[in-house]
Amino acid sequence: MDPLLAWRKEFPILGHTTYMISHSLGAMPQRAAVRLREFGDTWASRGIRAWEEGWWEMPVTVGNLVGSIIGAGEGEVVMQQNVSICQSVVTSCFDWSRRRNRLVTDGLNFPSNDYVYHGLARLGARVVSVPSPDGLTLPVELLLDAIDQETQLVSVSHVAFRSSYLQDLAAIVERAHKVGAMVIADLYQSAGTVPVNVRELQLDFATGGSVKWLCGGPGAGYLYVRRDLWDRLKPVATGWMAHEEPFAFEDGPIRYAGDAFRFLNGTPNVPALYSARSGYEIINEIGVAAIREKSIRQTTRLIELADEAGLRVNTPRDARCRGGVVIFAVENGKQVTRELARREVLADYRPGAGIRVAPHFYTTDEELEHTVDEIRTLTQAALTV
Ligand SMILES: Cc1ncc(COP(=O)(O)O)c(C=O)c1O
Repeated sequence: MDPLLAWRKEFPILGHTTYMISHSLGAMPQRAAVRLREFGDTWASRGIRAWEEGWWEMPVTVGNLVGSIIGAGEGEVVMQQNVSICQSVVTSCFDWSRRRNRLVTDGLNFPSNDYVYHGLARLGARVVSVPSPDGLTLPVELLLDAIDQETQLVSVSHVAFRSSYLQDLAAIVERAHKVGAMVIADLYQSAGTVPVNVRELQLDFATGGSVKWLCGGPGAGYLYVRRDLWDRLKPVATGWMAHEEPFAFEDGPIRYAGDAFRFLNGTPNVPALYSARSGYEIINEIGVAAIREKSIRQTTRLIELADEAGLRVNTPRDARCRGGVVIFAVENGKQVTRELARREVLADYRPGAGIRVAPHFYTTDEELEHTVDEIRTLTQAALTV
């Protein structure tokens, strides 16, 4: 018996849908709806007083729940609205006009991050994107070779969104720190399904969001910054919540808060923080080690089923190099995915990769078989639409 299946009753959609899309939008825990009602009730009954009764601190109190998933200490994670904003905050901490102006990014990074980095070119940044030799993997040596004395920041995706390739963060941090560079890791596709400990890894920055494996819904991204860097970092992308005394409403330049509030900007997305908490609590309760153990077992099984069905897989076969997704490289992937959804099997399609299929802690083994069966049937039928 799989003890994690006891969680299924907490996720209403699992009652009628084969939910293989937690790498894109994790299933909603029913507690999230309770939390959202709590938000409404608090707003309705407490009005403006809600700010001093918890709302103001929520970016940090909710951040603590994420912190315990990714190995950060109390007060070291702040909630923002999404990863793109976190990336802008972090990169705005640096002077890109100096000689040390290289921003080394991995070719499998999420495009939104790249859009932020390339925008920095007008401030003097030299963006060096290390290409993946096959579009799916990026041997760590290639990244290490690109990190030099003129590198200011290295940006890397822990698990690549397109192929589920799992990158060796420790080697990258070691090399970057040796030459005086810092590292930002995008944990979006790992946190909640692959164990990660930002402190043990000595990451300088980490970011991610709640939509996927954390089952937290949209509007809640997180940012971790290594505590001993706080004093030195003064984000240009800022706002009044980052001020040491926000309610002094001082004119002129900001005086940054001494704590992690210095990485915030304006009013937080309070309802999203209410709804996101439930997913974090559940992941903390289960523990990522147990989720990973099951994920390795089920992704391995998916690959076996694909082999048996004669379907090609675009994901590392070695579980040590693989996140929580298996990608099926099939013809007409987009149409097949659409038809799967019509049949109540949810997965998604990414150009250049294929159909992404992701079991999570709530997935049954029968659902794996059903999904691969449906993909096989649909790819065999000549789809024309
Ligand atoms: C690895 C990764 N980073 C970033 C994002 C997007 O982040 P956001 O929409 O929070 O900016 C995604 C997902 O869609 C992703 O998979």
